[in-house]
Amino acid sequence: MPELPSEVLLVEVGPRDGLQNEKQFVPTAEKVRLINELSRAGFARIEATSFVSPKAVPQLADAGEVMAAIDRVPGVQYAALIPNERGLARALEAKVDLANLVVVASESFNQRNVKMSVRESMDQLRQVVRAAEPAAMPVTVVIGTAYHCPFEGPTPPERVLGLVAECVDMGLEEVTLADTIGAANPYEVAALGEAVRERFPTVRLGLHLHDTRGMGVVNALAGLQSGYTRLESSIGGLGGCPFAPKATGNACTEELVFMLQGYGLAREIDLDALLAIGANLDTVVGHALQSGLLAAGRPVPVSA
Ligand code: COA
Ligand code: ZN
Repeated sequence: MPELPSEVLLVEVGPRDGLQNEKQFVPTAEKVRLINELSRAGFARIEATSFVSPKAVPQLADAGEVMAAIDRVPGVQYAALIPNERGLARALEAKVDLANLVVVASESFNQRNVKMSVRESMDQLRQVVRAAEPAAMPVTVVIGTAYHCPFEGPTPPERVLGLVAECVDMGLEEVTLADTIGAANPYEVAALGEAVRERFPTVRLGLHLHDTRGMGVVNALAGLQSGYTRLESSIGGLGGCPFAPKATGNACTEELVFMLQGYGLAREIDLDALLAIGANLDTVVGHALQSGLLAAGRPVPVSA
């Protein structure tokens, strides 16, 4: 049996990473409904939206309205992605519970994503962390293309470790490594996780998963065996990245839950509720979803 952590935090990122890539605007009321349904399915954290430039991500231009309209279920942390101080100010106004700041490990991708060098991003990140302090807004950092970049190829692990070191120096306790383009294999996920754990044993490490090459679930398992205790995925495998060629959806949350519950983990999540939410999602986004579990359902015997 693999050695797994006693607890895993599943972060549902469908409303943000999932929807941001949808070309057709998803009405605010549908976003609110999705977040409300997910809130009742047992997640302790949901990335609800992002406070980025509406020109960069038009789909999430309604972030403030979404946050104002959702029902806040006690015990659920509503997080948002924040690219800069302007985003932080908007998130504070919207009473977001947690700010996920972002930097991309590769220069060319970071330029595309936030129009800055990695150095500029890290300097700005430090400013945002400082600005969040007086408001006592908890902050985490997501490091994009932590394993592979679509333009630069494999990311040198030392570069990622250097960024984690800076995050630790800023006083951050939580860092997430993102397989932004779903190109990592389980060996790479595990090797980087172990390297982070060895150098920064107190950091709570998360793994942001994409299923572009079918590695989502196996990477999750490899990650849990090697130091990550938090997984990020999307209901129905929604998602993609508007700034990455060929990027497809996140790992499917319901498939991760199906796997984890087999090991006695993620029991707080209502898998049947997830399947019910997922069943309606294709009409919300206007196209079919790539989830094996949604398509086939739970493995229950049928009459011959
Ligand atoms: N929220 C809302 N509007 C914002 C904003 C924010 N957080 N940050 C900047 N803007 C607005 C500015 O007010 C400005 O508006 P104007 O043209 O009407 O004056 C415009 O966006 C451009 O601002 P600027 O500071 O010049 O930013 P930029 O064009 O250099 O873009 C980012 C930088 C970071 C704002 C933008 O690239 C971005 O939001 N990226 C996010 C990408 C993303 O979400 N990626 C998802 C995967 S991690
Ligand atoms: Zn992603």
